[in-house]
Amino acid sequence: MFQESVTLCPAHSSPEAASEKPLRVGLLGLGTVGAGTYRVLTRNQSLIRARTGRSIAITMVAVRDLARASAVVGREVTVTTDPFALVTHPDIDVVVEVMGGTTLARELVLKAIAHGKQVVTANKALLAEHGTEIFAAAQARGVSVAYEGAVAVSIPIIKALREGLVANRIEWVAGIINGTSNFILTAMHSQGLGFAAALQQAQAQGYAEADPRLDVDGTDAAHKLSLLAANAFGIPIPFAQVQTEGIEALDAADMAYAAHLGYRIKLLGIARRSAGGLELQVHPALLPQDHLLAAVNGSMNAVMVKGDASGVTLYYGAGAGSEQTASAVIADLVDLARGIGLAQALRVPPLGFQSGALKELPPAPDAASAWYLRLHSMDVVRCTAAALQALAQAGVGLRSQHPFCPSSHHAPAALVLLTEPIHTTVLRPLLQRLAQLPGVVGVPQAIRMSNLDSTPAARWQHS
Ligand SMILES: NC(=O)c1ccc[n+]([C@@H]2O[C@H](COP(=O)([O-])OP(=O)(O)OC[C@H]3O[C@@H](n4cnc5c(N)ncnc54)[C@H](OP(=O)(O)O)[C@@H]3O)[C@@H](O)[C@H]2O)c1
Repeated sequence: MFQESVTLCPAHSSPEAASEKPLRVGLLGLGTVGAGTYRVLTRNQSLIRARTGRSIAITMVAVRDLARASAVVGREVTVTTDPFALVTHPDIDVVVEVMGGTTLARELVLKAIAHGKQVVTANKALLAEHGTEIFAAAQARGVSVAYEGAVAVSIPIIKALREGLVANRIEWVAGIINGTSNFILTAMHSQGLGFAAALQQAQAQGYAEADPRLDVDGTDAAHKLSLLAANAFGIPIPFAQVQTEGIEALDAADMAYAAHLGYRIKLLGIARRSAGGLELQVHPALLPQDHLLAAVNGSMNAVMVKGDASGVTLYYGAGAGSEQTASAVIADLVDLARGIGLAQALRVPPLGFQSGALKELPPAPDAASAWYLRLHSMDVVRCTAAALQALAQAGVGLRSQHPFCPSSHHAPAALVLLTEPIHTTVLRPLLQRLAQLPGVVGVPQAIRMSNLDSTPAARWQHS
C-alpha cells in the first residue's frame, strides 16, 4: 500500500526540495500534451508530491481558445490568451512549452529564460533548430531547459544517457523514433497495404496528423536524433548534419520480398561516432528479423544505445500520446522541484558545458553500406544476366540474387539483388544503369541493409 508520508532519501533532499512552497507551473498550450500533463498531475498529485517532497501546481495556462481550455482545467488555474503575460509572470517558476512550432515558441522560451524561469519543453523541432541558442541563453541566465518529452515520448532516454550511462563512452545510438512512420511500415508489412493506404489508416486511427509530412519524410526523426546525438556525444545539436530520407517511396512488394529473405524494413535513426567523425542518418533499412529493433511494431518507439562499458542496452515505449508524453514532462518538473537539473553539470546538453564550449564532431565521410536492390522486369532471365554484368562492371560485389515470380501473367517479375557494401557515389550511377536494362519496368528500388551492431546482444537469443 502506498504511504503518503515518506522520508526523502538524502540524495533527493535539498533546502528547496524540503520546502512546502509548491513549484508554480505555467503551461504554454493545452492540447494533446498540455491537457495530458494537467490530467496526470491532478490524478497523481499526492503520489508525485510524496515522491518529490514538494507539490507541483499548474497555476496558469496560455491558449488561443479560452472556452476550450476552461473545460479542461479547474477554476484555480488562470487561463490567458496572452502567452507573453505567462512567461513574464512573477508568480511562475517553470514555463512548460507544449504549444509546438518554432517561431513564437522560440520567442517565448527565450523570454521565459530572460525572466529567470526554468523551462520544460516537448518541442523537438524547436530544440533541433534553435536549441544551441536556447541552451546558451539558459546557461548564461543560470536556468535549466529540460526536454525528456521531446525525444522518445515516454521513454526516459535523456535520463538514461545523462545518468544511467554516464560512465560510458557512447559508441552509437540508434532507434525507431517516429511512431507514425513505424505504424505505417507495420501496416504495410502485416496487411500488404501500399504507402498511401497505410497512411490513410494511420490518419483514421489518430496515429498521423492531417499534414503528416514531417513524420513520413524523416524530419521528425532527424529532430529527435540530433537531440540524442547532442547528449550521447556532448556536441552542439547537429540537426543540419543529419542525412534524412523518409518512407514515402517504399512499396508493399518490397516489404514482402524483404520478409521472404528474413528481413523487416524499418525507419531508423542512427548516430554513430567513428574514427572519421560523426555519422548521422535517418533512413529506411532492412534489419534481420531477429534484431531487437525489428520487433518494434505499430506506433511504438525503441532506442538502442551502445556504450563501451555497458554494451548494448535497449529502451522501449510509446511513440506518441497525451499522457505518455506527460509522463516525461512531469519527470522533468519533478527534477526541477527536487532541485536536480539546476546544477551546472546537469544542465542540457550535459557533457560539453562542463569543459566550456561544446566541440562539434566533423561529419563522417559517406560510409559504405550493403544495399537491397529490386528491379521489376517482363523478362527476368535476360534482366538478371544484364544486371549481374552491370554490377560486375561497376565493381560491386553481390551477396545473393533472388527472382520473385509475377503475381499474374501480365505483371512483371521481380529481381532482388543484395550487394556487398558500396558508397553512394557508386550506387547512383549503378541505379541509372539498371533502370535502362532491357525489359526493366519502373524505377529500381534501393534500400540500405542495416549495418547496426549484429552481436547476439542486439538480437533475440535463440536457445
Ligand atoms: N502529441 C504528441 O503525442 C506529442 C509527443 C511528443 C512531443 N509532442 C510535442 O509537443 C508539442 C505540443 O504538441 P500537441 O500534440 O500537444 O499539440 P496540440 O494538440 O496541437 O496543442 C497545441 C496547444 O497549443 C496552443 N497554442 C498553439 N499556438 C498558440 C498560440 N499562438 N498562443 C497560445 N496557445 C497556442 C493550442 O491552443 P488552442 O487549442 O486554443 O488553439 C493548443 O492548446 C509539439 O511541439 C509536439 O511536437 C507531441
